[in-house]
Amino acid sequence: MDFFNIPTPCYVLEQELLERNARILDSIQKDSGAKVLIALKGFAFWQSFDTLKSLSGTTASGIYEARLGFEEFGGRESQKEICVFSPAYKEDEIDSLLCIATHIIFNSFAQYQKFKHKIQQKNEQLSLLGLAPIQIGLRINPLYSEVTPPIYNPCIPKSRLGITPGEFQKGMETFGLDGVSGLHFHTHCEQDSDALKRTLEHVVMHFDSVLSKMKWVNFGGGHHITRKDYNIGLLNSIILDFKARYEGIEVFLEPGEAVGWQCGFLLAEVIDIVENEGKIAILDASATAHMPDCLEMPYRPNIKKISRQNDEINIEDDLGVAKGKYQYRLGGPSCLAGDVIGDYSFDHELKTGDRILFEDMIHYTIVKNTTFNGIPLPSLGIMQNGKFKLLKQFNYLDYKNRNG
Ligand SMILES: Cc1ncc(COP(=O)(O)O)c(C=O)c1O
Repeated sequence: MDFFNIPTPCYVLEQELLERNARILDSIQKDSGAKVLIALKGFAFWQSFDTLKSLSGTTASGIYEARLGFEEFGGRESQKEICVFSPAYKEDEIDSLLCIATHIIFNSFAQYQKFKHKIQQKNEQLSLLGLAPIQIGLRINPLYSEVTPPIYNPCIPKSRLGITPGEFQKGMETFGLDGVSGLHFHTHCEQDSDALKRTLEHVVMHFDSVLSKMKWVNFGGGHHITRKDYNIGLLNSIILDFKARYEGIEVFLEPGEAVGWQCGFLLAEVIDIVENEGKIAILDASATAHMPDCLEMPYRPNIKKISRQNDEINIEDDLGVAKGKYQYRLGGPSCLAGDVIGDYSFDHELKTGDRILFEDMIHYTIVKNTTFNGIPLPSLGIMQNGKFKLLKQFNYLDYKNRNG
């Protein structure tokens, strides 16, 4: 693989690794009977959707993601689900979703009441055509989540995400549950199945009587299913037990990160190296524009240094913070003082023109990219059988069109 023939910055999806993730996720469907949907908010690399076709559909945060799922993965006509949850829908969004969504999940009784009639009217038309109706769901907040940091925890005090048990009770007493066929909770982030087991105890404690009337439940995302040490056996048995308890209920999982987990990298180039109490390498990839979770989570990505001498390519692992002889801080090309990816060290000197490979950069990166400072968006490519194929390059117009 000649890393110097790839234009930088570039996200490179590794086909064989995505195939592995697809196989694992499909095995959950087969072994537990749950339907697995791709959360487009985390993974929207649609040129790779053929690889994921065994999954049951997509899950969207609004009309754009729903439309992408419909156009590139398929909808009702191809027996694929398009599930949508938004903290609050505008009228025109609902109007557009009626043509696309198979499930619309509301975050409040007020929104459900506001749009229920539109959905029911649409369902009458669908029924005349012999098509399945749009399912209405409500997102619940079981008041239990093990997620840290708080920015990713939907059960923090005053969270706006999901209806609390107390509000649910009030809503049911005032409006009833006419037309509601499912519940949804999303309370996980990068978690193993034991966290789901503990969470379900809270879901059942607060919503048992409602669950027994529902046709489906969506367990949300945040299940780190494709991570090497994830307990898949426990996940399958949790789902099977749940389905046995609430006879006939259908279970959905909607992972984003687990779809794109460890299946590609971001390749960057060292543009300059400056000095200020140590060496600081400035790259053509940015933490804030291209790897925002490095700053939000925060976390330090694993990297490899790739250098070329004559025709020989050397790939070196990072030795850790201040461990190796040559130590560097890596930063982006933006004006943000905190556009810093982390501190790294190597056995050999880093030079201008070297490449840095950031591992595991396919989920929650491309979908979150910005053109802050007018920094070019990274290209998109795919690697299959060791061969690189460029899929898309962005240009000045992608920046200009977003700004006026
Ligand atoms: C409602 C909902 N579903 C699914 C997901 C996907 O979660 P993950 O990518 O962690 O699996 C998220 C992520 O924020 C979410 O908010």
